[in-house]
Parts: sequence; C-alpha cells; structure tokens
Amino acid sequence: MTSSWSGTILIQASRLLSPFNAFPFHPIDPVKKPRIIAVIAMASNRVIGKDGDLPWRLPADLKLFKKNTLGHPIVMGRKTMESLPGVLPGRRNVVISRTATELDEGFELINDCNDVTEFLEGEEKIFIIGGAQIFAEMLPLCDEVLLSYVYHPYEGDTYLPEFEDDFTVEEILHKDDDFELRRYVRR
Ligand SMILES: NC(=O)c1ccc[n+]([C@@H]2O[C@H](COP(=O)([O-])OP(=O)(O)OC[C@H]3O[C@@H](n4cnc5c(N)ncnc54)[C@H](OP(=O)(O)O)[C@@H]3O)[C@@H](O)[C@H]2O)c1
Repeated sequence: MTSSWSGTILIQASRLLSPFNAFPFHPIDPVKKPRIIAVIAMASNRVIGKDGDLPWRLPADLKLFKKNTLGHPIVMGRKTMESLPGVLPGRRNVVISRTATELDEGFELINDCNDVTEFLEGEEKIFIIGGAQIFAEMLPLCDEVLLSYVYHPYEGDTYLPEFEDDFTVEEILHKDDDFELRRYVRR
C-alpha cells in the first residue's frame, strides 16, 4: 500500500503535469543568444565609405536595408551615426563610442564593443551596420553577413576587412544591374 507521503508526492507530480493545471510547471528557459548579423555594402575594390558618407546612391539597397533591419536593434560606430540624417525609425539605434558621454535623443550609447550582446540581451537579432572600425571588431562575433556586393569599384577612404574565409555564401537574396545581396553564414 502507498504511504500517505508518497501518495501526496504522486498527486503533486500529476498536478504539475496536468494540461488543466492552472500553474503548469515550466522548466527555466535559458536566455537565448541573439543572432548577430552584419549588414554591409561594399564595392568590388572593398571600398565602403568616402568622406564620412557612402560613395554611392543605391535606393534599392537602402530599401533592402530597411526591410531587413526594421524591428531589430542596429549597432553602429560613432562616425556612422554622424553620417545619418538622424535616428533610423522602428529600430533601437545603438552607438559605440569610447569618448561620447551623451548622444542626441533616440540614440543609445555603449562604450565598449564587448558590451553589445549583454546590452541587447533578449533580442532575437542584432544588426551591426558599420563602419569599418566596428566591422573589424565585430565581424569575428557575427553569425551572418548580409553583403550588398556592388559590381563596380569606387573611390573612397574606408575599406572592409577580409571576412570571406570564415563564411560561406548561403543564398543570393537580390540581384540587379548595380549589386547583388549575398547572405553569408559562418562556416
Ligand atoms: N558601406 C557600408 O556598408 C557602410 C556602413 C556604415 C558606414 N559606412 C561608412 O564608413 C565610414 C565610417 O566608418 P569608420 O570606420 O570611419 O567609423 P565607424 O566604425 O563608424 O566609427 C568609429 C568610431 O566608433 C568608436 N569605436 C570604434 N571601436 C570602438 C571600441 N572598440 N569601443 C568603443 N568605441 C569604439 C569610436 O568612436 P569615438 O571616436 O567617439 O570614441 C570610433 O571613432 C563612413 O564613410 C560611412 O559612410 C559604410
């Protein structure tokens, strides 16, 4: 015969497992690591910037950038922030700077690249949007790269470091006369 103690334990256990239980048992969810994705537009000679701005105007690329990043945080270097007309709407705008203590309203400040994932804990995806200094430091942490490969060389002063050896092209998401959008994933 079952002792009253073991009977109580059995009843409690069946309550925890019951689909009708008002307080179902949930194992503690581990905090999910966000997927870190770099979004880059690069010319065929690896140029990504000129005089603090983009060297080209590619509306189709900007449209894709918006579509891919909307609803997710974007992370940028202080110089890239200064190249923008203002906060990009519909996304958390996170800026990395060693020296800044305050930013315009709508921008969030981090002082160290290593703090990005902790700062954005709980996010599903994080988009690293440049520029070259931030790509150089963050690409080793990226799971994925969305690269708009611009077919022509451009004059410029800012170059993308090599990253291709650590990644493989998974798919081409867009192709037109000016550029193709490649999705790279880490090997
Ligand atoms: N084609 C593209 O996909 C693309 C994307 C983005 C930008 N761009 C272009 O790239 C150029 C800007 O790139 P950039 O390399 O000159 O500048 P950047 O990477 O945008 O910003 C550099 C700044 O970020 C901060 N920073 C860098 N590493 C840091 C670290 N480890 N910890 C804390 N802060 C750090 C520093 O800010 P403080 O000096 O304030 O300390 C540094 O001066 C522009 O021409 C822009 O238009 C191109």
